[in-house]
Amino acid sequence: MPVTLEPPSLGLLPHYADALRRGWSADNVRGKVAADEELQRIAADPQAFVDSLDNPNGGGPPVMRLDGSLGTRLPSIRRWIWDGGFCGAIGLRWGPGGGPLPDWFPYGHIGYAVPAWRRGAGYATQGLALLKPEARLRGLDHVELTTDADNPASQRVVIKNGGYLVAREPGGTLHVDAEILRWRIDL
Ligand SMILES: CC(C)(COP(=O)(O)OP(=O)(O)OC[C@H]1O[C@@H](n2cnc3c(N)ncnc32)[C@H](O)[C@@H]1OP(=O)(O)O)[C@@H](O)C(=O)NCCC(=O)NCCS
Repeated sequence: MPVTLEPPSLGLLPHYADALRRGWSADNVRGKVAADEELQRIAADPQAFVDSLDNPNGGGPPVMRLDGSLGTRLPSIRRWIWDGGFCGAIGLRWGPGGGPLPDWFPYGHIGYAVPAWRRGAGYATQGLALLKPEARLRGLDHVELTTDADNPASQRVVIKNGGYLVAREPGGTLHVDAEILRWRIDL
């Protein structure tokens, strides 16, 4: 079965929820806490949950910045990596009006996560390859991604998609002791 990127939908939601129940989360920092929160939101209003994942025009509830202040939510889309079953999630966010990401958002344009039981089969690599045209469609001529220096799997995913290293940075609030690698992929 070919790998595709699927917009979140009610039809595929049970597969996504199943991965959450098995302990996976698209939130690489908050993990199971974030998974449990999402399961509660799905139980309360599945359509509202699905709708909340895509936000191509930005806006909506504010986000908390690293310094604790509230910022305007960036435009973003989420896609589910799919091969007939759920293989992971990948998200793209960009600056308002197609401009650069604001300084207060240090994480780059794209984030992804694959459940442990699906790893090593090329899903993240293919997911990122399929997301690049979506980024071009939104006017981006490059994307930046960040990985922990001790996350070689994620670095391979970026490199296999033409990524090159542009900076090494200290981890900051969320990754206190980590070194962060900043990558760029020209589109
Ligand atoms: C990073 C992650 C998304 C990779 O997903 P995946 O579908 O397994 O990735 P792929 O199969 O497409 O590619 C993984 C590559 O990393 C390599 N790899 C895996 N573990 C590795 C390790 N410990 N050391 C070196 N390379 C490693 C694989 O061999 C493969 O490279 P290859 O094709 O050259 O052999 C997945 O491990 C994950 O979800 N991790 C937790 C969340 C995360 O770190 N997200 C990224 C945040 S920046």
